[in-house]
Amino acid sequence: GNETAGEGGREIVAGTASGFPPFEMVQEGELVGFDIDLLEAVVDETEYELTGWEDLEFDSLQPALQNGNIDVIAAAMTITEERQESVAFSDPYYSADQSVLVAEDAEFQPEELADLEDREIGAQSGTTGETVVNEDLIDEGLIGDDQYTSFDNYVLAVEDLERGLIDAVVLDEPVGETFQADRAVEVAFVFETGEEYAFAVRQDDGDLQTALSDGIAAVEEASDLEEITREWFGE
Ligand code: ARG
Repeated sequence: GNETAGEGGREIVAGTASGFPPFEMVQEGELVGFDIDLLEAVVDETEYELTGWEDLEFDSLQPALQNGNIDVIAAAMTITEERQESVAFSDPYYSADQSVLVAEDAEFQPEELADLEDREIGAQSGTTGETVVNEDLIDEGLIGDDQYTSFDNYVLAVEDLERGLIDAVVLDEPVGETFQADRAVEVAFVFETGEEYAFAVRQDDGDLQTALSDGIAAVEEASDLEEITREWFGE
């Protein structure tokens, strides 16, 4: 390390929300995934030392950041204007759109959001998938708010989808593709949202924000980002 950050490196703790493969998941009791490898590689390029990970619910990450339990969020978190009012984002490291998952071989084969009319829909609490449900389905009158189930994580949503308890799940497309490969669900359609994932830090932690952005550039430069992408996406 020590290549890019200036003085002031210190010990930091990262927070994530597992159950979001291949970005963060628990395998054989261990927290693994793209975000885990990427943040560790990025922090290695700085004067900071990553001493541990907290695996929390997605909804709890911002409060944990604000109260100092964690110092950085690495959770496939999309940069949004609303979040920018309370946290500071690094440069982006990944681009994604949204997708709609249905049960494998389901009769129900929606092709666009309008086809979700009057259906039971799930998403993870506090995510941009939930924002789509609120703004494009509920506010548009396509479904009632009692037809939306908010889950603590997407694994629980996918389990309910497999059991036929809900009709569709709205979630980030790379994660939808991963569930399609591993579970009895399939991506019905994808729609463009142009989201960009970044690491989030406290707004008064500008040194860490800069160090992380510089670290991302260094990891890109060293082709380590390509390697991490190949490892978790097989590309
Ligand atoms: N990208 C989406 C968002 O920012 C979903 C992130 C969910 N991340 C997770 N680790 N569960 O809202």
